[in-house]
Amino acid sequence: MTEACTLIIFGATGNLAQVKLLPALYHLEAAGLLTSEIRIVCSGRTEFSEEGWREHVRKTISERARDLVQAPNCDTFCHRMHYHQGDIADPQTFERLAALLREPGFPDNHVFYVSLPPATYGGIVESLDQHGMLHEDGAWRRVVIEKPFGSSLESAQNLQRKVSRHLREDQTYRIDHYMGKAMVQNVLVSRFANLMLEPLWNRNYIDHVQITRTETLGVGKRAGFYEGTGALRDMLQSHLMQLMALVAMEPPVSMDADELRDEKVKVLKSIRPIHPAAVDSQAYRAQYARGHVDGASVPGYLEEPGVAPDSVTETYAALRLYVDNWRWRDVPFYLRTGKRMAEARTMVAICFKQPPKHFFRSAHIERPPPNWLIMSIAPEESLRLEISVKEPGPEMKTRQISLDAPFRCEHHARTDAYEGLLLDVIEGDRSLFLRYDEVEWAWRIVDPVLGVWASERDYIPTHPAGQWEPEEVSRIFNREHHRWRHLVDPE
Ligand code: BG6
Repeated sequence: MTEACTLIIFGATGNLAQVKLLPALYHLEAAGLLTSEIRIVCSGRTEFSEEGWREHVRKTISERARDLVQAPNCDTFCHRMHYHQGDIADPQTFERLAALLREPGFPDNHVFYVSLPPATYGGIVESLDQHGMLHEDGAWRRVVIEKPFGSSLESAQNLQRKVSRHLREDQTYRIDHYMGKAMVQNVLVSRFANLMLEPLWNRNYIDHVQITRTETLGVGKRAGFYEGTGALRDMLQSHLMQLMALVAMEPPVSMDADELRDEKVKVLKSIRPIHPAAVDSQAYRAQYARGHVDGASVPGYLEEPGVAPDSVTETYAALRLYVDNWRWRDVPFYLRTGKRMAEARTMVAICFKQPPKHFFRSAHIERPPPNWLIMSIAPEESLRLEISVKEPGPEMKTRQISLDAPFRCEHHARTDAYEGLLLDVIEGDRSLFLRYDEVEWAWRIVDPVLGVWASERDYIPTHPAGQWEPEEVSRIFNREHHRWRHLVDPE
């Protein structure tokens, strides 16, 4: 059971709060995981009466909850809710908030969740401190900051300077929702709870690694955020680099927050810097043009509301990286992400090397397929191992079969990443949140690419919405047989 606390959400009327945070909190309620003392203060600019807000939350929950909403749970949940109207640019908003939090009924431990655009993070932390709301006097204060933390190495350093004037590192919860996904955590479990993989998990046996998150959705109504962000900052610098760190890290001393994060940082530090002259051969960007998704015609990125007609913001980004350490030197890690692609899919695909000699090669097959281990994160949550076996029949021919294991059975409840992460904040467990040095090292890796792309503003390759990336992306592959694996099951 969680500790009593007051959770304050800045940006409560915004997309993230409506789509993720409020439903996640409701699911915790329905699972009986919130103590009765927890209060939730939702802050936004829109006017709402207390009753009006509760009605709004009721509606949001009934539209977004996983299962049929149970009235008693929903009543208890709405009863915890308070609405605080205010503009964060107005100091009075913070003054009134501080006064509200001093009222009886609001537990003294406070979580502030900043679910607003990145440009506001520094100012909010500063205002909270100026109004005495970060001062810990027998009770704790924690601040959750969404990604992206900064938009480049320099801006992340500036933001950190600002934040650290008011908050200690152990009060700062930099959230990356990928770390809350069960299958992402399963990367750690598969590696460190089984001995079988470890002897193979290195440059002697692994040919290359692919980490993919492709979406079929477009930028939707988020152009205001996305135009200045792009796929490399939005997805690759954060979510995909975190996944890569989990795949490549050494076993930590323990699963304690700092031990785990020390090992992730070591991976990020070992990534070979991309020289500006090598950006073209190690990085690729593209943008979706008009096309078809699920049989319906959809606009191109440039036609989306709020997008500049000459925008070169990338909606697709791919990188080839190397981890220059004892375990991984010269093994390519290919990372890619894109919106409006042919399939929505998140997976880590590990391609093993070929055996030293091909005894069973049939004359017409140059290279028998290698072994693959696929950790599928979405939509399937599964592990798949592909191996060669003998084809039935008198001839000595081989074929590829797969051992497939779904991670979740019918009776296992689905939970959203935000549920576990919100509980962790309330319980003070920082292991799945990013420490500042992780964020800084991830920016160091992508900064040269961002720099080159920012200077090349006259052209960006496109692909029709609903299709895979342009063939040209193959220039980032450094071996002839490397190509994207699009599907978990290629048959
Ligand atoms: C968010 C990005 O962090 O992750 C979005 O800002 C993206 O652009 C989303 O759509 C993808 O998350 P998931 O969990 O659907 O892979």
